[in-house]
Amino acid sequence: MIKEKILVLDFGGQYNQLIARRVRECNVYCEVHPYNMSLEKIREYNPMGIIFTGGPNSVFGDDAPLVDKELFNLGYPILGICYGCQTIAHLNGGKVSHADKREYGKTIVNVDVESKLFKYVSKETQVWMSHTDFVSKLPAGFKIVANTPSCPVSAMENVEKKLYAVQFHPEVNHSLEGMQMLKNFVYDICGCSGDWKMDDFAKTTIETLRKKIGDGKVLCALSGGVDSSVAAVLLSKAVGKQLTCVFVDHGLLRKNEGDEVEAVFGPNGPYKLNFIRVNAQERFYAKLKGVTEPERKRKIIGEEFIRVFEEEAKKIGAVDYLVQGTIYPDVIESGLGKSATIKSHHNVGGLPSVVNFKEIVEPLRLLFKDEVRKVGLELGIPDYLVYRQPFPGPGLGIRIIGEVTAEKVKIVQDADYIYREEIAKAGVDKSCNLGQYFAALTNMQSVGVMGDERTYDYAIALRAVQTSDFMTADWARIPYDVLDIISRRIVNEVKGVNRVLLDCTSKPPATIEFE
Ligand code: XMP
Repeated sequence: MIKEKILVLDFGGQYNQLIARRVRECNVYCEVHPYNMSLEKIREYNPMGIIFTGGPNSVFGDDAPLVDKELFNLGYPILGICYGCQTIAHLNGGKVSHADKREYGKTIVNVDVESKLFKYVSKETQVWMSHTDFVSKLPAGFKIVANTPSCPVSAMENVEKKLYAVQFHPEVNHSLEGMQMLKNFVYDICGCSGDWKMDDFAKTTIETLRKKIGDGKVLCALSGGVDSSVAAVLLSKAVGKQLTCVFVDHGLLRKNEGDEVEAVFGPNGPYKLNFIRVNAQERFYAKLKGVTEPERKRKIIGEEFIRVFEEEAKKIGAVDYLVQGTIYPDVIESGLGKSATIKSHHNVGGLPSVVNFKEIVEPLRLLFKDEVRKVGLELGIPDYLVYRQPFPGPGLGIRIIGEVTAEKVKIVQDADYIYREEIAKAGVDKSCNLGQYFAALTNMQSVGVMGDERTYDYAIALRAVQTSDFMTADWARIPYDVLDIISRRIVNEVKGVNRVLLDCTSKPPATIEFE
C-alpha cells in the first residue's frame, strides 16, 4: 500500500510526464490522470496534493479543459503550472488575458522567499517560461509571490486555501531551482515525508502477483527488450513454471540477438523459464517481399507477429493471464495524448484480442524506464539486457529503406554490429551520452573503387542521437577518429557496402528511425 500520493491532473501539456518524474525523484509516489477525473474518483484516490499541468489551450476558449470549481473547496493543496496557473486564476475570480507576443525561454523572476513555495530559493532565480496568456488580475484572497517586468503575476498563492500557482515550468532543467520549488510543494505544503522507494517494488510485486494468480496459467510475449524481460522475470519468480514465454524471432533482430535472448531466458539460462522460440524469419521475409512503403512494412510485421503468436498460443491452450511489459510512458501517451500519428508503433498492444485469456497483467504499468531498469538489476538480469538501447518492434525492417530481403538484413546486421562494437570500445556511448545509435541501410547504391575494381554497392547510414525522452533528439557528435575506424571497418568487412554516411539531422525535423 502506498501511503502518500500526489495526483497530477493533465491538461495536455508537453511536460506532464516530467512533472510526475520530478515528484518521484522527491521519493513521493505520483500518477498522471486526465484533468476531468471526477471529484469522487479524486476523493477515492486520496492524494496528499494535486498538481495541474500546463496545456495548449486558453481558459476562455470554447472547449477549454477546466476542473469542477468544487475541487478548490476540498482542502487539497494544489499547485498550478502554466495553463494550470491560469485555470486556478480563472476559476477563482481572477482574470486571464492574451498577450500579443508569446513569452518563451529563460527568464529571471523575483520571488518572495517568505512564501513556502520558495523556501531556500534565491530572490532572483532563473525559470523557464512558455506562454502567451497570463494572469492579468489576481483572484480575491491571492497574493503575488513572484514577478517579472513582463509577467507581473509569475506566481501567486492563497495560503489559507492551500492554492499555489506558477506561470513558469519548475519541472524543466532550465528552471534552475525548480526542483526545490517542487520539493517545497510536496514536503512542506502537502506534508509528504518522501519515504517511497523503488527497493521494495520487486518484492511486493512478486508477492502480489503470486496471490493474484494462484495456480493460474500465464502467457508472456517476450521480445528481449528490457520491459518484457523484467515483466517475465517478475512473473517467473512469482509463479515459476505456470508461466510460458513465447519469443518470436522475426528475422529482423540485431546480429546474435535471438541467441542472446535464448541464452538468458531459455532452458539453459538462469531463470529456467518455459521458453518457446519461434524461428519465423522466412515467413516474415516472404510477407515483406516487394513491399517498400514504410507504413505497410510496419503493418505487415505487426500483423504477422500477431499471427505467429496466436498460433503458439493456440498450442498452449486457454490461459488465465496475459503478461504485458507496458510501462508508464506508454500508459500516459496512449491514454491521454491527442498527438498526430507520425508512425504506427508496433508493440504487443495488439495481442489481447487474439488470445483466449481472462485478464491482462501489467506489473510495470506504473514505472518509468529507469525505474524498470533498477528492478531488472535487482532481479539479477544481466547488465547488457537491462541497459539495452530501445529497439523498435518492427526491428531492422524499418532500418532497411525500401524492400527487405534476407541479404539486406545480413548487411545491416553486420554493419550495425561493427558500429556498436567500436562505439563500446571507444566508450563513446558514455562520453557522448548516446541515447540510441544504430546503422541503417539506405536504398542507395553508388559507384566505388575497391582493389582497382569498380563497385556498385549500398551506402550504410550511421545514426546516433542524444535524447532523454525520444520525443526530441539531437544528433550526437561522435569523434571523427572513431567514425573513421567504423567507416573503414564497415566498408572492408561488410560485403555489399562501399560507402558510409553520417546522419547529422536532429528530431524534429527528422525522426530517430528512418521509417
Ligand atoms: P522515432 O523514429 O519515431 O522513434 O523518432 C522514437 C523511438 O521509438 C522507437 N520506435 C518504436 N518502438 N515500436 C516500438 O516499440 C515501434 O514500432 C517503434 N518505432 C520507433 C525508436 O526506436 C525510438 O527509440
